[in-house]
Amino acid sequence: MNKKTNIQSAMFAEMQNKNLFRKAKNHAFEYLESAFERDIFPTEAALKNLEKFEESMPEKSGDGEQIIDLLNDYGSPAAVPYNGRYFGFVNGSMIPTSLAAKNLSIYWDQNAAMHVMSPITAKLEIVVQNWLIELFGLPQHTVAGFVSGTSMANLAAMAAARYRLLKNKGWDVTEQGLFGAPKIRVVTHTHIHSSILKAISLAGFGKANIEMVECDKHGKIIPEKLPELDDSTLLILQAGNVSSGAYDDFATICKAARDKGAWIHIDGAFGLWAGATKRLKHLTKGFEHAHSYAVDGHKTLNTPYDSGVILCQDEEALISALHTSASYLASNERREGMYLTPEMSKRARVVEMWAALKYLGKDGVDEMIFEMHERAKQFAEILAKTVGFEVLNEVVYNQVIVKCATDEMTQLVMEKVQELRECWAGGAVWEGEQVIRISVCSWATTSEDIVRSANSFKKALALVKSDLT
Ligand SMILES: Cc1ncc(COP(=O)(O)O)c(C=O)c1O
Repeated sequence: MNKKTNIQSAMFAEMQNKNLFRKAKNHAFEYLESAFERDIFPTEAALKNLEKFEESMPEKSGDGEQIIDLLNDYGSPAAVPYNGRYFGFVNGSMIPTSLAAKNLSIYWDQNAAMHVMSPITAKLEIVVQNWLIELFGLPQHTVAGFVSGTSMANLAAMAAARYRLLKNKGWDVTEQGLFGAPKIRVVTHTHIHSSILKAISLAGFGKANIEMVECDKHGKIIPEKLPELDDSTLLILQAGNVSSGAYDDFATICKAARDKGAWIHIDGAFGLWAGATKRLKHLTKGFEHAHSYAVDGHKTLNTPYDSGVILCQDEEALISALHTSASYLASNERREGMYLTPEMSKRARVVEMWAALKYLGKDGVDEMIFEMHERAKQFAEILAKTVGFEVLNEVVYNQVIVKCATDEMTQLVMEKVQELRECWAGGAVWEGEQVIRISVCSWATTSEDIVRSANSFKKALALVKSDLT
């Protein structure tokens, strides 16, 4: 007897005729066609239409194709295209091959936890781990865990550091916890990213216990201001300040700190990629002496979301900290993805990083990232020459911070830029002042995009001035 429920019959039919998937694909293609030209932020009408989703949970099962249409009709226009004129936060675009590879792997619907659940994912994780080691010039024994983003990579690094520093003092934090444990000192600086502060609090170190070190005017730690470091210290540095793009001086700090027994973690969410390029590599000089690194694919590498990596030179610490039992190391020869990340079940997110790296090659990574740097410099040069704007940072990488005559003016100009919808940039506070932050983080940004966007900034300034008079 082959009896199916109504919903089973409907789903078998959908799987067989695939109209649902064709529809989604057609809508996706339509979206992609306009994504690099359309308004950079949804129109007011598109935002208002989001009300169409406000309904109570349906009692009865629905029609798949209608659901996909609804999502496209009112969802697609309310999505933000991170194209060549999107400069907000540090949001990257997507490399076409990487997006296509992700799409294929979504149909596989793999659980990347273990080799036995997905041999292809396990294989690609090893391949990408090796490529990243080579690209960044890290020691062969470095391991990579594929996480949702840098926030999670930072947290995983805190756990590994905590494990190792305490283990060296004869304390197994995974068994004994933090109550009564020897004290860990956390040293970082005033410009560290908020995701590090979150990771510090989640790891149980307490934000109030941080030994905060002063930074210079670029937002880099001042090495001479570092306290005495020792084998109880977790030192957290940064490759790429989220506003200025500045890099801490790893060459001066990392080796010396390591020699003292400290654990060094580097948050390189978007900036670590400089270390994978020929022409910007100087920015990360000396970073190989750190113990752990957090880096995203979905920022400067331009993989689709969500794609982050924890790189750790101490495999035992990472696995022991994230996994319930360290016996894995002794008992299992096979690399299992889940032991290197906080999650167990997760999608095959390595696929899109593999595809991006395979497509770009080393030269492509270099070219793409250097081009972002050049375009950021172009943007800064135009604005620096425009009366009414002042560029506040030295553009070492892809970030530009700019202000107008007063905080109020800066805020109004930023809002006007956003309203004009030619390009999109957000705000930040830099050294107590309101600024507009421009992050060039898309493979698609051309010099024409920069000119068009800078013109929009100039227009916004003129409009705000005339509104005020
Ligand atoms: C320097 C830095 N660290 C960490 C993060 C957080 O990364 P994610 O959003 O991938 O968790 C960001 C995000 O912009 C960042 O710029």
